[in-house]
Amino acid sequence: SDPDLIRRDLLSWYDVNKRDLPWRKVSSHDINQRAYAVWVSEIMLQQTQVATVIDYYNKWMKRWPTLQHLAKATLEEVNEMWAGLGYYSRGRRLHEGAKKVVEELGGEMPSTAETLLKQLPGVGKYTAGAIASIAFNEVTGLVDGNVVRVFARLFIIGGDSTSQMVTDTLWSLANTLVDLDQPGNFNQALMELGATVCNPKTPSCSKCPLKSHCKAYSQVIDWQKRTASRL
Ligand code: ADE
Repeated sequence: SDPDLIRRDLLSWYDVNKRDLPWRKVSSHDINQRAYAVWVSEIMLQQTQVATVIDYYNKWMKRWPTLQHLAKATLEEVNEMWAGLGYYSRGRRLHEGAKKVVEELGGEMPSTAETLLKQLPGVGKYTAGAIASIAFNEVTGLVDGNVVRVFARLFIIGGDSTSQMVTDTLWSLANTLVDLDQPGNFNQALMELGATVCNPKTPSCSKCPLKSHCKAYSQVIDWQKRTASRL
């Protein structure tokens, strides 16, 4: 498993196969604005399917196009907009965070995973890594449910993925593997692969850009060869 080849194969696959999602099309050259868009989308995506999030995201950005707009909203307005998404604390914390950035941080989003995690309410390790890498190009890895599954198969990591030891191993792998030039694309590519190809029940291994690097795949192929030769 050569990390350089894994990065290359994953990034070229993503370049061709990435879904055309609204938060991936934010054209603004204002980095702060891009970070706001990533923040909103990642918070919405935490417990909600992509297909559902698209409409909510578009409506949200139309109503509150910038952090400054959101900071002026009321909690009632935010809750109303969030209706149907569930886990209302996500919306409330996003609103609190926007007020904090505007009122206490001079309108500037924190730009590293470490400061995002420390300064923004509702932003955990995953969201901090996503905003830092996607909006600010910080070389930092991330692990969500998709990444857990991709790594578990690619490197054959078994055990309880919620245990501290396995969690630490996965984060350390993510940080080691992340692409130095395109950390945001690399992280999104890993999640995209997990969501669309390396899915939980019916992975499409034949379409996988990483099959030649995948330990789980090669085990299955070896097993098939061994049993076929005994028929
Ligand atoms: N799931 C959550 N965030 C994602 C992203 N940025 N790309 C792909 N899948 C995701």
